[in-house]
Amino acid sequence: MPRRLYKGDPLTPGEREAYEEDLIAFCDCELDLLGDVEGLSVLYAGGSSPLWLEGLSQRIGRTGALVALESDIERVEEGRELLREADLDAPVRIITGDAFRPPFEGDTFDLAYSSGLLHELDVREGSAEEALAALASVVRTGGRVATSDFVNSVPAVQLEDEELQREMTRELSGAKLYGIGPPERLVTLHEALLAEVQWRISPPRPVRYLDKIVLAEEEPEGPRSLPVGKRRRLSERLEALRERIRREGYTRPATLYVEGSVIEG
Ligand SMILES: C[S@@+](CC[C@H](N)C(=O)[O-])C[C@H]1O[C@@H](n2cnc3c(N)ncnc32)[C@H](O)[C@@H]1O
Repeated sequence: MPRRLYKGDPLTPGEREAYEEDLIAFCDCELDLLGDVEGLSVLYAGGSSPLWLEGLSQRIGRTGALVALESDIERVEEGRELLREADLDAPVRIITGDAFRPPFEGDTFDLAYSSGLLHELDVREGSAEEALAALASVVRTGGRVATSDFVNSVPAVQLEDEELQREMTRELSGAKLYGIGPPERLVTLHEALLAEVQWRISPPRPVRYLDKIVLAEEEPEGPRSLPVGKRRRLSERLEALRERIRREGYTRPATLYVEGSVIEG
Protein backbone atom coordinates (compact mmCIF):
# COMPACT_ATOMS: atom_id res chain seq x y z
CA MET A 1 0.00 0.00 0.00
CA PRO A 2 1.21 3.55 -0.55
CA ARG A 3 3.67 4.94 1.97
CA ARG A 4 2.54 7.86 4.12
CA LEU A 5 3.33 10.20 6.96
CA TYR A 6 1.41 10.27 10.25
CA LYS A 7 1.36 12.72 13.07
CA GLY A 8 1.40 10.03 15.75
CA ASP A 9 0.21 6.48 16.10
CA PRO A 10 -3.55 6.55 15.45
CA LEU A 11 -3.94 3.01 16.86
CA THR A 12 -4.25 1.84 20.43
CA PRO A 13 -1.65 -0.78 21.46
CA GLY A 14 -4.25 -3.53 21.04
CA GLU A 15 -5.25 -2.31 17.58
CA ARG A 16 -1.60 -2.06 16.53
CA GLU A 17 -1.01 -5.61 17.64
CA ALA A 18 -3.96 -6.82 15.53
CA TYR A 19 -2.77 -4.73 12.56
CA GLU A 20 0.76 -6.13 12.76
CA GLU A 21 -0.53 -9.66 13.23
CA ASP A 22 -2.50 -9.33 9.97
CA LEU A 23 0.45 -7.86 8.07
CA ILE A 24 2.69 -10.70 9.22
CA ALA A 25 0.00 -13.24 8.25
CA PHE A 26 -0.24 -11.65 4.77
CA CYS A 27 3.51 -11.73 4.39
CA ASP A 28 3.72 -15.35 5.60
CA CYS A 29 1.12 -16.49 3.07
CA GLU A 30 3.02 -14.82 0.24
CA LEU A 31 6.39 -16.20 1.34
CA ASP A 32 4.96 -19.70 1.78
CA LEU A 33 4.30 -19.72 -1.97
CA LEU A 34 8.06 -19.83 -2.53
CA GLY A 35 8.15 -23.37 -1.11
CA ASP A 36 11.43 -24.68 0.28
CA VAL A 37 14.14 -22.02 0.07
CA GLU A 38 16.40 -23.37 2.80
CA GLY A 39 20.10 -22.92 2.06
CA LEU A 40 19.53 -20.77 -1.04
CA SER A 41 21.26 -17.59 -2.04
CA VAL A 42 18.35 -15.18 -2.53
CA LEU A 43 17.98 -11.71 -4.04
CA TYR A 44 14.99 -9.76 -2.73
CA ALA A 45 14.40 -6.94 -5.21
CA GLY A 46 12.46 -3.78 -4.33
CA GLY A 47 12.03 -3.42 -0.61
CA SER A 48 13.93 -3.39 2.64
CA SER A 49 11.26 -3.79 5.27
CA PRO A 50 12.03 -6.16 8.15
CA LEU A 51 8.54 -7.61 7.76
CA TRP A 52 9.64 -9.33 4.54
CA LEU A 53 13.34 -9.71 5.25
CA GLU A 54 12.87 -11.46 8.60
CA GLY A 55 10.36 -13.89 7.10
CA LEU A 56 12.67 -14.65 4.20
CA SER A 57 15.76 -14.95 6.39
CA GLN A 58 13.93 -17.40 8.66
CA ARG A 59 12.97 -19.58 5.71
CA ILE A 60 16.44 -19.46 4.13
CA GLY A 61 18.20 -20.38 7.38
CA ARG A 62 21.84 -20.24 8.41
CA THR A 63 23.19 -22.08 5.38
CA GLY A 64 21.82 -19.56 2.86
CA ALA A 65 22.15 -15.82 2.30
CA LEU A 66 19.82 -12.94 1.56
CA VAL A 67 20.53 -9.68 -0.27
CA ALA A 68 17.88 -6.96 -0.55
CA LEU A 69 18.16 -4.47 -3.41
CA GLU A 70 16.28 -1.21 -2.91
CA SER A 71 16.53 2.02 -4.93
CA ASP A 72 15.36 4.43 -2.25
CA ILE A 73 18.30 5.34 0.01
CA GLU A 74 16.03 6.46 2.85
CA ARG A 75 14.29 3.09 2.88
CA VAL A 76 17.65 1.31 2.77
CA GLU A 77 18.85 3.20 5.84
CA GLU A 78 15.55 2.69 7.65
CA GLY A 79 15.66 -1.06 6.88
CA ARG A 80 19.28 -1.38 8.06
CA GLU A 81 18.46 0.44 11.27
CA LEU A 82 15.44 -1.74 12.03
CA LEU A 83 17.25 -4.95 11.17
CA ARG A 84 20.04 -4.14 13.61
CA GLU A 85 17.74 -5.32 16.39
CA ALA A 86 16.40 -8.35 14.57
CA ASP A 87 17.29 -11.93 15.29
CA LEU A 88 18.11 -13.18 11.78
CA ASP A 89 18.77 -16.72 10.63
CA ALA A 90 20.29 -16.15 7.19
CA PRO A 91 22.68 -13.18 7.03
CA VAL A 92 20.94 -10.20 5.38
CA ARG A 93 22.60 -7.38 3.42
CA ILE A 94 20.59 -4.40 2.19
CA ILE A 95 22.07 -2.72 -0.86
CA THR A 96 21.10 0.51 -2.60
CA GLY A 97 20.61 -0.16 -6.29
CA ASP A 98 18.32 -0.40 -9.25
CA ALA A 99 16.47 -3.55 -10.29
CA PHE A 100 17.14 -2.55 -13.91
CA ARG A 101 20.87 -2.78 -13.20
CA PRO A 102 21.43 -5.24 -10.32
CA PRO A 103 25.07 -4.80 -9.23
CA PHE A 104 25.99 -8.51 -9.22
CA GLU A 105 27.73 -11.03 -11.46
CA GLY A 106 25.67 -13.58 -13.39
CA ASP A 107 24.97 -16.83 -11.48
CA THR A 108 25.14 -15.08 -8.07
CA PHE A 109 21.70 -16.21 -6.87
CA ASP A 110 19.53 -19.33 -6.80
CA LEU A 111 16.39 -17.21 -6.57
CA ALA A 112 15.38 -13.63 -7.31
CA TYR A 113 12.15 -12.63 -5.62
CA SER A 114 10.12 -9.46 -5.42
CA SER A 115 6.90 -8.57 -3.70
CA GLY A 116 5.20 -5.36 -4.73
CA LEU A 117 8.14 -4.15 -6.83
CA LEU A 118 6.52 -4.40 -10.25
CA HIS A 119 3.59 -2.05 -9.69
CA GLU A 120 5.99 0.62 -8.38
CA LEU A 121 8.50 0.23 -11.20
CA ASP A 122 9.18 3.46 -13.12
CA VAL A 123 8.84 2.23 -16.69
CA ARG A 124 10.36 5.38 -18.20
CA GLU A 125 13.67 3.77 -17.30
CA GLY A 126 12.94 0.54 -19.13
CA SER A 127 10.04 -1.88 -19.52
CA ALA A 128 8.88 -4.33 -16.85
CA GLU A 129 10.18 -7.09 -19.16
CA GLU A 130 13.62 -5.49 -19.03
CA ALA A 131 13.56 -5.32 -15.24
CA LEU A 132 12.58 -8.99 -15.01
CA ALA A 133 15.31 -9.93 -17.50
CA ALA A 134 17.84 -7.96 -15.45
CA LEU A 135 16.86 -9.89 -12.32
CA ALA A 136 17.03 -13.20 -14.21
CA SER A 137 20.53 -12.30 -15.45
CA VAL A 138 21.99 -12.62 -11.93
CA VAL A 139 20.31 -15.99 -11.25
CA ARG A 140 22.04 -19.23 -12.22
CA THR A 141 20.59 -21.32 -15.05
CA GLY A 142 17.84 -23.50 -13.59
CA GLY A 143 17.38 -21.11 -10.66
CA ARG A 144 14.10 -19.29 -10.15
CA VAL A 145 12.64 -15.83 -10.58
CA ALA A 146 9.45 -15.29 -8.59
CA THR A 147 7.31 -12.20 -8.17
CA SER A 148 4.24 -11.41 -6.19
CA ASP A 149 2.13 -8.31 -6.76
CA PHE A 150 -1.36 -6.93 -6.50
CA VAL A 151 -3.79 -7.51 -9.38
CA ASN A 152 -7.11 -5.89 -10.20
CA SER A 153 -9.22 -9.06 -10.52
CA VAL A 154 -11.31 -8.18 -7.44
CA PRO A 155 -12.60 -4.64 -6.76
CA ALA A 156 -10.84 -3.01 -3.80
CA VAL A 157 -10.47 0.42 -2.24
CA GLN A 158 -6.70 -0.02 -2.29
CA LEU A 159 -6.77 -0.18 -6.10
CA GLU A 160 -8.32 3.29 -6.24
CA ASP A 161 -5.76 4.52 -3.70
CA GLU A 162 -2.81 3.07 -5.63
CA GLU A 163 -4.11 4.59 -8.88
CA LEU A 164 -4.45 8.00 -7.26
CA GLN A 165 -0.93 7.77 -5.82
CA ARG A 166 0.33 6.73 -9.24
CA GLU A 167 -1.22 9.78 -10.89
CA MET A 168 0.04 12.03 -8.14
CA THR A 169 3.59 10.64 -8.59
CA ARG A 170 3.33 11.27 -12.32
CA GLU A 171 2.22 14.87 -11.82
CA LEU A 172 4.92 15.55 -9.26
CA SER A 173 7.99 13.78 -10.64
CA GLY A 174 7.06 12.61 -14.12
CA ALA A 175 7.59 8.98 -13.02
CA LYS A 176 5.45 6.53 -14.98
CA LEU A 177 4.70 3.62 -12.66
CA TYR A 178 3.81 0.23 -14.14
CA GLY A 179 0.77 0.12 -11.87
CA ILE A 180 -1.67 -2.64 -11.02
CA GLY A 181 -3.39 -4.51 -13.85
CA PRO A 182 -4.98 -7.87 -14.70
CA PRO A 183 -3.21 -11.13 -13.78
CA GLU A 184 -2.64 -12.03 -17.46
CA ARG A 185 -0.36 -9.02 -17.94
CA LEU A 186 2.08 -10.33 -15.32
CA VAL A 187 1.81 -13.98 -16.34
CA THR A 188 2.63 -13.07 -19.96
CA LEU A 189 5.59 -11.03 -18.78
CA HIS A 190 7.10 -14.07 -17.04
CA GLU A 191 6.24 -16.51 -19.84
CA ALA A 192 8.19 -14.39 -22.32
CA LEU A 193 11.38 -14.94 -20.35
CA LEU A 194 11.22 -17.98 -18.11
CA ALA A 195 10.56 -21.73 -18.44
CA GLU A 196 8.01 -23.82 -16.49
CA VAL A 197 6.01 -20.77 -15.45
CA GLN A 198 3.47 -21.39 -12.69
CA TRP A 199 1.17 -18.88 -11.10
CA ARG A 200 -1.45 -18.57 -8.43
CA ILE A 201 -3.93 -15.89 -7.40
CA SER A 202 -4.48 -15.42 -3.68
CA PRO A 203 -7.72 -13.83 -2.50
CA PRO A 204 -7.51 -10.46 -0.71
CA ARG A 205 -6.34 -10.60 2.88
CA PRO A 206 -7.89 -7.96 5.10
CA VAL A 207 -5.64 -6.02 7.44
CA ARG A 208 -7.46 -4.83 10.55
CA TYR A 209 -7.33 -1.09 11.31
CA LEU A 210 -5.65 -0.23 8.02
CA ASP A 211 -8.58 2.12 7.35
CA LYS A 212 -7.87 3.95 10.60
CA ILE A 213 -4.21 4.34 9.67
CA VAL A 214 -4.97 5.63 6.16
CA LEU A 215 -7.61 8.07 7.41
CA ALA A 216 -5.17 9.47 9.97
CA GLU A 217 -2.62 10.41 7.33
CA GLU A 218 -1.39 13.97 7.00
CA GLU A 219 -2.37 15.74 3.81
CA PRO A 220 0.48 15.14 1.31
CA GLU A 221 2.59 18.25 0.79
CA GLY A 222 3.66 17.48 -2.78
CA PRO A 223 0.47 18.60 -4.59
CA ARG A 224 0.85 22.09 -3.10
CA SER A 225 3.49 22.74 -5.75
CA LEU A 226 1.04 21.92 -8.59
CA PRO A 227 -1.08 24.41 -10.55
CA VAL A 228 -4.35 25.23 -8.76
CA GLY A 229 -6.64 23.29 -11.16
CA LYS A 230 -4.64 20.04 -10.87
CA ARG A 231 -4.33 20.47 -7.14
CA ARG A 232 -8.08 20.90 -6.77
CA ARG A 233 -8.83 17.81 -8.89
CA LEU A 234 -6.42 15.65 -6.89
CA SER A 235 -7.74 16.96 -3.63
CA GLU A 236 -11.38 16.19 -4.66
CA ARG A 237 -10.37 12.65 -5.62
CA LEU A 238 -8.53 12.21 -2.35
CA GLU A 239 -11.61 13.31 -0.42
CA ALA A 240 -13.83 10.94 -2.47
CA LEU A 241 -11.41 8.11 -1.65
CA ARG A 242 -11.48 8.96 2.06
CA GLU A 243 -15.29 8.95 1.96
CA ARG A 244 -15.20 5.50 0.33
CA ILE A 245 -12.82 4.24 3.03
CA ARG A 246 -15.21 5.50 5.73
CA ARG A 247 -18.08 3.61 4.03
CA GLU A 248 -16.35 0.38 2.97
CA GLY A 249 -13.18 0.17 5.04
CA TYR A 250 -9.82 -0.21 3.29
CA THR A 251 -10.51 -3.29 1.21
CA ARG A 252 -7.48 -5.02 -0.28
CA PRO A 253 -6.72 -6.41 -3.73
CA ALA A 254 -5.99 -10.00 -4.66
CA THR A 255 -2.33 -10.89 -5.24
CA LEU A 256 -0.72 -12.86 -8.02
CA TYR A 257 2.34 -15.03 -7.43
CA VAL A 258 4.27 -16.07 -10.56
CA GLU A 259 7.46 -18.07 -10.77
CA GLY A 260 9.54 -19.61 -13.51
CA SER A 261 13.00 -21.05 -14.03
CA VAL A 262 15.90 -19.30 -15.70
CA ILE A 263 16.86 -20.61 -19.11
CA GLU A 264 20.49 -20.85 -20.22
CA GLY A 265 21.83 -17.89 -22.22
C1 LIG B 1 5.50 -1.65 -2.70
S1 LIG B 1 7.15 -1.47 -2.19
C2 LIG B 1 7.53 -3.14 -1.79
C3 LIG B 1 7.38 -3.36 -0.39
C4 LIG B 1 8.13 -4.61 -0.01
N1 LIG B 1 7.25 -5.74 0.00
C5 LIG B 1 8.86 -4.37 1.27
O1 LIG B 1 9.91 -4.96 1.46
O2 LIG B 1 8.37 -3.59 2.08
C6 LIG B 1 8.10 -1.37 -3.69
C7 LIG B 1 9.54 -1.05 -3.40
O3 LIG B 1 10.28 -1.15 -4.61
C8 LIG B 1 11.24 -0.11 -4.64
N2 LIG B 1 11.62 0.10 -6.04
C9 LIG B 1 10.88 0.68 -7.03
N3 LIG B 1 11.56 0.67 -8.18
C10 LIG B 1 12.75 0.08 -7.93
C11 LIG B 1 13.88 -0.25 -8.74
N4 LIG B 1 13.92 0.08 -10.04
N5 LIG B 1 14.91 -0.89 -8.17
C12 LIG B 1 14.89 -1.22 -6.85
N6 LIG B 1 13.85 -0.95 -6.03
C13 LIG B 1 12.79 -0.31 -6.57
C14 LIG B 1 10.51 1.06 -4.00
O4 LIG B 1 11.41 2.05 -3.54
C15 LIG B 1 9.76 0.36 -2.87
O5 LIG B 1 10.52 0.30 -1.69
